[in-house]
Amino acid sequence: MSPDHRVIIGDSRRMSDVTDESVHLAVTSPPYPMVSIWDDSFAEAAARTYNDMHEYLNETWQEIRRVLISGGIACINIGDATRTSNGLFHLYPNHSRVIENFEKLGFVTLPYVLWKKPTNRPHYKGKGAFLGSGFLPPNAYVTLDMEYILIFRKGPPRSFPPKDPLRYDSKFTKKERDEWFSQVWKIPGARQDLEGLERRVAAFPEEIPRRLIRMFSILGDTVLDPFLGSGTTLKVAMGLDRKFVGYEKLPQLTEIIKSRIRSTHRDVMFSEQGQVIKELVG
Ligand SMILES: C[S@@+](CC[C@H](N)C(=O)[O-])C[C@H]1O[C@@H](n2cnc3c(N)ncnc32)[C@H](O)[C@@H]1O
Repeated sequence: MSPDHRVIIGDSRRMSDVTDESVHLAVTSPPYPMVSIWDDSFAEAAARTYNDMHEYLNETWQEIRRVLISGGIACINIGDATRTSNGLFHLYPNHSRVIENFEKLGFVTLPYVLWKKPTNRPHYKGKGAFLGSGFLPPNAYVTLDMEYILIFRKGPPRSFPPKDPLRYDSKFTKKERDEWFSQVWKIPGARQDLEGLERRVAAFPEEIPRRLIRMFSILGDTVLDPFLGSGTTLKVAMGLDRKFVGYEKLPQLTEIIKSRIRSTHRDVMFSEQGQVIKELVG
């Protein structure tokens, strides 16, 4: 019998350990193309251009399509990026490229959420700060202080037997519904006091996967995070009585993931891609 919670240290562009149509919901935050801290993640891409980075992510999106059940949902948290190339500052609209790519894969695009983070200063000429002359038009830039939570469905909506008890036990309150199903979410970012790899991984706050898992899955469903990072989605999914499978490419993150889930008192299987289960942490 396959374990309820699995972490695979490996590449989510080939999720050979996950069978077809076995996942109900994917919740993830990929490395963002053109955000320089992520350049290493794309080292295998032929050249680190915007197109190549999206091609790289697209391989994981294809795998998501394979492993999702019909009616399963994928939630992708992604921010746009800005860069100066050839002396010209401009926008790389990651969210629109991801939407295009999911559409090409045949997903149904659903209305998305804008996650507003209460941080960031305005930009001036891409230098990250509004200098004195930034009060003069017309060469200042709008600050990117929103991220997108894009929502896609594979095929038509899921159907359930009438009065399905697990579905009814998963229901949200009116207050939750009114807040979660509105388009702008004001949620503070994850902890800022982290250092080294833990900081570099750019974790999202637990509130993001908590809402998405409650909104788009029912108790006992299987949740996938193909870009697991520090393990936020795993921790939240376990707390919400969902099964979980996740991939993370960097073996150095294993200890960080284990420390995130230490308090859950639930078993998690850690393995390397394509290998039999190596270790049980509980
Ligand atoms: C933005 S971080 C995810 C942060 C995560 N949501 C959290 O809360 O910690 C993206 C992660 O994807 C990993 N990654 C990049 N390419 C990958 C791939 N092909 N397969 C699996 N993981 C990958 C990176 O190492 C990084 O940890």
